[in-house]
Amino acid sequence: MEEKVHTVKPQQCRIIEPGSMDPCTIVIFGASGDLSARKLMPSLYKLYETGNLPESYSVVGCSRSAMTDEEFRNKMHQAVMESVKLDEKTWEAFAKNLFYKIVSYDSKESFNYLAHYLKELDKQKKTGDNRLFYLAVPPTLYPVLATMIGKAGLADEAADDTGWSRIVVEKPFGRDLETALALDNTLHESFQEHQIYRIDHYLAKETVQNILMLRFANSIFEPIWNRSFIDYVGIIAAEKLGVEHRAGYYEQAGVLRDMFQNHMKQLLALTAMEPPSLFEADRVRDEKVKVFRSLKPLAKGSLNNDLILGQYSAGSIDGKRVPAYRDEMGVDPRSFIPTFALMRVFIDNWRWRGVPFYLASGKRLAKKVTRIVVQFKDVPHSMFRSVIDENIQANRLILGIYPEEEITLTFQTKAPGSKVCLRPVTMDFKYYDKYQGEILDAYVRVLHDCILGDHMLFWRQDGVELAWSFLDPILEECEACADPENTLQLYESGSWGPTAAKRWMDLILERSER
Ligand code: BG6
Repeated sequence: MEEKVHTVKPQQCRIIEPGSMDPCTIVIFGASGDLSARKLMPSLYKLYETGNLPESYSVVGCSRSAMTDEEFRNKMHQAVMESVKLDEKTWEAFAKNLFYKIVSYDSKESFNYLAHYLKELDKQKKTGDNRLFYLAVPPTLYPVLATMIGKAGLADEAADDTGWSRIVVEKPFGRDLETALALDNTLHESFQEHQIYRIDHYLAKETVQNILMLRFANSIFEPIWNRSFIDYVGIIAAEKLGVEHRAGYYEQAGVLRDMFQNHMKQLLALTAMEPPSLFEADRVRDEKVKVFRSLKPLAKGSLNNDLILGQYSAGSIDGKRVPAYRDEMGVDPRSFIPTFALMRVFIDNWRWRGVPFYLASGKRLAKKVTRIVVQFKDVPHSMFRSVIDENIQANRLILGIYPEEEITLTFQTKAPGSKVCLRPVTMDFKYYDKYQGEILDAYVRVLHDCILGDHMLFWRQDGVELAWSFLDPILEECEACADPENTLQLYESGSWGPTAAKRWMDLILERSER
């Protein structure tokens, strides 16, 4: 038998040549807005600078404000400069393909005119009738714009796969199952599922993508990634920020819709899913959907039992006094909207039966931290009990998502010296250690994947629906609660949430944080 030499290989990457990418036009609706200026345009510029835009491309900004191409380019130049390091020559070359069209969102003529304009631009720029429509607009406009794009014939694709048309939307995808279905029906009147890209910006985070790499590109984790070895899993996304200027939206959403319906569910799915047979969008999404399907519904009356809700009161963050949620601008002074939630869920399948998953997220907490804590079980038998009287701290694996982008594994070792002493030590890997390249924004990856037609990092509609099916009864119970004062616990800004949550938060937090 020949022995295998296990060598350490350098990086192994998927290679995409710009020449192999389809030429295309990227149409941004809401181009005069914040998202376009802060995220989309800097990301497109970065894609260009790093050679990751197709050789033939154009970007058409659309919004209701009047602007010339030149004015749009100047505005975007300013915006990109504020976000990333800009090289003037590279910008000039990039901006040659930047255009602007005023569009009245409710006017059929306006869209017919846009369709005509895009056709001409396609010919001129040789972008092959391939179009990506990015809706950087408030969600109430998604149905309007999708319909108008469809009516203008801009959603049509040729049967031979040439001339593709894609639409990109960001959460929220509805505010419950019913509205999510309604939105989806409208999108599907013009677009088919393969044309729709539903963004979850958490999926575009490097450290989130790394969860699958860690689990499935190593052979040592999977055998212990189950109820036989894992005591519980904690997933936390804590923020120091308050509601900021988004009270209008947040008063309708609250933390459950804002964070649990989407980001927390994705983190849960990536941690709990089975290995897909291939690293391919639909196979990965199939496995995630199976996790959503296996989620055990919270029992009726589980408020305060499996779910703790809180709302921030005044306090201090980084030494500065901050107001209570109810005193924030635009918030109802008697609001019962939760800004914190801690939920205990179970996944009813062979792998996870009986393992609690604690999901926690909140605003105005002590620290900005997103992480996944995998707490292993105690050693089954302590042979050290005769010499060391304390319980031995069990192993813990932490996947730091943000701001600590790292993986740490805590285990026991012998402390040096003549005495028998156990000492927990931590092996850590910093995600960007030895990485020389530039750290790119999540939107760079999102836009790149949309152009490539890769759905891996996007929600599929069945996932959205299952996620709402799980959350809807909980939301109904919370919203119908006769005694909101007693179910919504106030917590001081800058703390780790309501006192009632402490027992579970302690399971997730590090000793130094408690
Ligand atoms: C957004 C939520 O989707 O995610 C915000 O709407 C939240 O309320 C944000 O602040 C958190 O994202 P991140 O990347 O800062 O963890």
